[in-house]
Amino acid sequence: MIITIDGPASAGKGTLAQSLSQKYQMAYFDTGMVYRAVGLKLVLKGISPDNESEAEKAALSLDFPQMINLSKEADFRSDVGGRAASIVAANPAVRTALLKMQQDFANNPVFGDGTPAKGAIYDGRDTGTVVCPNADIKLYVTASPEVRAERRHKEFLAKGINKTFEEVLAQIKERDERDQQRAAAPLKPADDAIIIDTSIYDAKQVFNKVCEIIDSFQKKLEK
Ligand code: C5P
Repeated sequence: MIITIDGPASAGKGTLAQSLSQKYQMAYFDTGMVYRAVGLKLVLKGISPDNESEAEKAALSLDFPQMINLSKEADFRSDVGGRAASIVAANPAVRTALLKMQQDFANNPVFGDGTPAKGAIYDGRDTGTVVCPNADIKLYVTASPEVRAERRHKEFLAKGINKTFEEVLAQIKERDERDQQRAAAPLKPADDAIIIDTSIYDAKQVFNKVCEIIDSFQKKLEK
């Protein structure tokens, strides 16, 4: 079974995907990691993420072990990493270079230790529209920019990072705008996606709702 979860930053996709991965024994692929890895590779070399040919080169040479190593860098999950990721992600040549690596995962989904899984859960921006257009269940998880900024702001405060709510909201809006307006694989729900607005449900309610969707899909398959 393949499940895709797309949506904007800080909508709750990762939390949902991880809980589903545990419950259904499915391997989780956070596809934002591939774009973060390419963006950070450039930043660490002092190259601008806007440099299209260097970004394509960095994407073409990216593999899983390199991505895991880059994910240990301090800026991988920071705003620096997020911004660089969204800039390289708007480059069509980068997206093309990273597509097969993402699609291959669905053919042989495994956990981090190499154990085979019962399917794959993707989280990203275009996983239901471009990476896995034939996925069994497609979800689009979203929330208002204000709700997402509030969540991110709380995370920053908990980590001791001093930023105002307004700064966080402005960054979220800037990233949304770039992800939605780009010509290559813009952020949007697949035509057959189920839309879940997490502004009105908490994480547990969202998880329960999605479990119902998966269970009823599996029951239909058994018939
Ligand atoms: O999800 P995350 O915040 O890690 O993603 C970082 C950036 O990578 C996003 O803002 C988006 O520009 C890009 N991305 C993408 N397609 C995906 C996953 C992430 O364009 N499937």
